[in-house]
Amino acid sequence: MDNFKHLLRLRDWDAERILGTIGVAIRLKNEVKNGIYSEQLKGKTIGLFFEKPSLRTVTTFQVGMHQLGGMPVTLEPKSIGLNKRESVKDIARCLSRWLNGLVVRCFKQTLVEQLAEHGNIPVINALTDDHHPCQALAFGQVMVEQFGEDLRGKTVAFIGDGNNVANSTMELCAKLGMNFTLACPKGFEQKKEDIELSLPDFKKSGGKYRLFNEPRDAVRDADILYSDVWVSMGQEGQKDSKQNHFLPFQISDELLSLAPKHCKVTHCLPANRGEEITDSVMDNLQINLCYEEAENRLHAQKAVLWELLF
Ligand code: CP
Ligand code: NVA
Repeated sequence: MDNFKHLLRLRDWDAERILGTIGVAIRLKNEVKNGIYSEQLKGKTIGLFFEKPSLRTVTTFQVGMHQLGGMPVTLEPKSIGLNKRESVKDIARCLSRWLNGLVVRCFKQTLVEQLAEHGNIPVINALTDDHHPCQALAFGQVMVEQFGEDLRGKTVAFIGDGNNVANSTMELCAKLGMNFTLACPKGFEQKKEDIELSLPDFKKSGGKYRLFNEPRDAVRDADILYSDVWVSMGQEGQKDSKQNHFLPFQISDELLSLAPKHCKVTHCLPANRGEEITDSVMDNLQINLCYEEAENRLHAQKAVLWELLF
C-alpha cells in the first residue's frame, strides 16, 4: 500500500509535503478572508465515517468540502454495521466506487489502515486512539504563522497524557526539526514503538525528543505549551484512576510563569477547564492560540483534501 496517497499518520508524509500543505492552508485561509472560494473539488464527494463524537473535525470537513465546491456525505456507523452487517473489505470496495475520499474517526488505527488497503480512494485519519494527524497539521500551521516556515529548533512542550495528539505532534516535530518534550506522569508515556519510529526523523531534521515526569522541567525552554484532555474518548472508565496522577500536569499561570516570556499555549480542544488547563490560561487570548488552531483545522484539512483528491 502506498501510504503517501492517504493521511493515516503524519510519519508517512515527508517535510516537503507537510510544509507544502501548510502553505496551501495559509493561502486558502487568506482567500476565504477576502471572500474568494475555489471550485477545485467541484463534483467530488467525501464520506465522513465517525465512530466517536466530534465538533471541530466533522464541522470543518463538511464546511471545507463545501468551500472547495465538493460535497460531504455522512456515513452512519450504526447503520453500516462494520464487521457485523458487512466486512471492512466489502465496505471499502463499495465506497471506492462512489466516493473520491473517505474521512474516518475510529478507535483502532488498524481500521483506517484496512480501509486504505482494501479501497482505492484516499483515506484521511480524523482521529484514532493512536493518531490525530489533521490536528497536528493545524498546529503546524499555527507554528508557521507565529514563527515562520523554518521551525527548526523551536520547542513544543506537551503537558499531559502520551496520547494520540501527543503522537501526531511528536511526528510533526520530528519531520520539521522541532524539539518535542513530553511531560507526563510515570506510566502514561507514549508507546515505546511510536517514539522509536520517529527517532530517525528527529535525527534527520535535527529535532530532539525529551521526556520528563515533572512539568516544571519541561516548560523552561518551551516556545509553546500544548495541552489535551487527560482522559481521551473511549477511556472514560479510567477517569477516576487517572485523575490523581495528572493533577500536577495542569497548565496554569503558575506553570506558565516558569516558561520563557514569549511562550504561548495551545490546546487541541475540547478542553476540561479546571483540569488540564485553567480558566485563566484558556481566556488569556494574548497567549492562548487554541482558537486559531481550531480555525486552522478548516484550512489545513482543505489543503489535505486538495493534495489528496485533486
Ligand atoms: N480537536 C478535535 O478533533 O475536536 P473534535 O473532537 O471536536 O473534532
Ligand atoms: N486525546 C483526545 C483528543 C480529542 C480531540 C481524545 O482522543 O479524546
